[in-house]
Amino acid sequence: MNQSELDFINTLRQSSGYIEQHRGKTCVIYIPGELIMVPSNLHQLAQDIALLDNLGIKMVLVMGASAQIDHAMRLANMPFDHHHQFRITTSEMLPIFQQTIGVVRSQLEAAFTRANNSQPVPLTVTSGNWVIAQPKGVIDGIDFQHTGRLRKMNHQAISACLNAEQVALLTPLAYSLTGEVFNLNTLEQACAVANSIQADKLMVFASPQQLAGLPKQLSIPQLRHAISQSTDAEQIDFLTQISVTNNRVKRVHLMDEQTPSAILLELFTRDGSGTLIFSDRYHQVRMANIEDVVGILELITPLEQQGVLVKRSRERLELEIANFMIIERDQHIIGCAALYPHADLSGELACLAIHPNYQGQELGEELLNAIEQNAQHQHLKKLFLLTTHTHHWFIEHGFMLSTIDQLPEQKQSLYNFQRQSKVLTKSLSNDR
Ligand SMILES: CC(C)(COP(=O)(O)OP(=O)(O)OC[C@H]1O[C@@H](n2cnc3c(N)ncnc32)[C@H](O)[C@@H]1OP(=O)(O)O)[C@@H](O)C(=O)NCCC(=O)NCCS
Repeated sequence: MNQSELDFINTLRQSSGYIEQHRGKTCVIYIPGELIMVPSNLHQLAQDIALLDNLGIKMVLVMGASAQIDHAMRLANMPFDHHHQFRITTSEMLPIFQQTIGVVRSQLEAAFTRANNSQPVPLTVTSGNWVIAQPKGVIDGIDFQHTGRLRKMNHQAISACLNAEQVALLTPLAYSLTGEVFNLNTLEQACAVANSIQADKLMVFASPQQLAGLPKQLSIPQLRHAISQSTDAEQIDFLTQISVTNNRVKRVHLMDEQTPSAILLELFTRDGSGTLIFSDRYHQVRMANIEDVVGILELITPLEQQGVLVKRSRERLELEIANFMIIERDQHIIGCAALYPHADLSGELACLAIHPNYQGQELGEELLNAIEQNAQHQHLKKLFLLTTHTHHWFIEHGFMLSTIDQLPEQKQSLYNFQRQSKVLTKSLSNDR
């Protein structure tokens, strides 16, 4: 079997779990006009969305058209103003908006119809007057005229559309209860619809400028910190809009609009390709059970081979599995540690390891804290460990260098003088 065949098999194995996980889930996908403007990108995205539809994912698409509107206004020689990052839409501009948005929408529909060729079940896109708008009004003495804001959303109608196995499409146009037409910010709509239908995911394509410097994952507090640290007004505005989904939508994925296939990587690979903002815990620390043995072995075997950890047989691991805690992410074990209580009320910390791809994210510290809590619940008074490579890390985490005679007697007799491990101890507070 050649390498590309092996890669294919591994990828299929990795993604199959996600296919089941996402089936029946609801995703709101924000597609900016910039992405739609590049025909090859639109074609690629339409194919991927048709695939997701066939895999049973329910989707609401929210289509932007700012880039196309800017272009149409320039062609019509009609200058336009912004205030607070929002475009002012005058009555004279409205027909150009309606025309342009109509064209963009038909481009999308055409792309999906073409994409249906490659899927067994054709995707049907539906849109409707689901969003009720109201005027944005006069702000700082400036009348926004036909620039509107969202007043309410008929989320039951959108959900009914999704339950009928159709893809719902929202455009920048929405209508007031008095029948007026308004231009709405589509990212705001995407966030609002994701909140109101309690979508499982909001997936947002964004510009490189909006994504600049963002890490692969952000918790909600980290997102707020990123906003406070950014010096780019466009990025601040973008991230602030995203932050309103806070807690309602558990996961927001930010992807580069120049890479439409990022959507497949985000959904079907462990690490995705963009930035994930999560309001639930993305990983969990828990006690290990017998089913975790294989995952722990995969994690620690390379470290055993390097001599960083002492070799453990599979049988020994199976017998001692109740001593282990693990960090699990998307059903993969990315960290482990073991606690062995001794009769003198000390506990040995052993086999602490974080997968190399996840080191430096304070997961080692999180696991150590969990082991300390576990030890305190067992009324242990101190922790000790033997290490050949990592004593500085433990000293930075409150351990002190100690001597062999401080070890429990049974452990002293087993001490391997060839290995020359350092002995470290840490007292545990009893105030729990
Ligand atoms: C030690 C280990 C568990 C730390 O996990 P982690 O999740 O990366 O740790 P944290 O994110 O909390 O801390 C990372 C910091 O520790 C430092 N660090 C990592 N390994 C270190 C070591 N052997 N000695 C000193 N510092 C170390 C990193 O450089 C980083 O420092 P920085 O924040 O200044 O850049 C992880 O590096 C690991 O699995 N190492 C291999 C296995 C091992 O040595 N286990 C201990 C055997 S008893």
